[in-house]
Amino acid sequence: MENIHPIFDQLLSQEKQEILLNQKGAVYWLTGLSGSGKSTIAKGVEKELYDQGYLVKVLDGDNIRSGVCNNLGFSLEDRKENIRRISEVAKLFKETGVITLCSFVSPTIDIRESAKKIIGKDFHEVFINTPLEVCEARDVKGLYKKAREGMIKNFTGIDSPFENPENPSLEIKTKDQTIEESIDVLYKFICQ
Ligand code: ADX
Repeated sequence: MENIHPIFDQLLSQEKQEILLNQKGAVYWLTGLSGSGKSTIAKGVEKELYDQGYLVKVLDGDNIRSGVCNNLGFSLEDRKENIRRISEVAKLFKETGVITLCSFVSPTIDIRESAKKIIGKDFHEVFINTPLEVCEARDVKGLYKKAREGMIKNFTGIDSPFENPENPSLEIKTKDQTIEESIDVLYKFICQ
């Protein structure tokens, strides 16, 4: 940090941006297994909010890993760095007054705590709670099959851990819900 001089006090505040946009900036951090429904729910909520006139940004694992984080893999160290970069980006969106939906496996309590610490106020942890066997049965991307065959190493839920959030702001159990119902739960939580 030597020779680096951030200029925070010369920038427009979050409050001023929120007045312009007529909404509150916040981060909704969706965590859960691959295939749990995080991105589907995030995209559904994005559309609902957009239709109601809100400015929303979805940050999603596969997209971010194709760009900002395209040099990272799935070791614990790389996942930590992945989440660190995403958290810094999400914070910038939040400070611009944008409703920011983050859709990342973010598998450990420690990793999610680090996200919360970087993002600061208006961070909401949302646990997309879908049992492993349901995610594996869905296997939308065919990755569970590959992981079971040993073709992918360190796959979350198979040979890499997922720690359930202990006290999330919101928990969505997708197993016995339609996609629309799950989307509605998060939409209502954001608009409450
Ligand atoms: S995180 O653990 O660092 O938060 P992230 O959400 O960015 O993960 O990326 C997860 C997505 O990458 C999954 O939805 C899946 O499509 C893909 N993926 C590829 N390899 C793995 C793996 N070993 N573990 C988990 N997801 C993987």
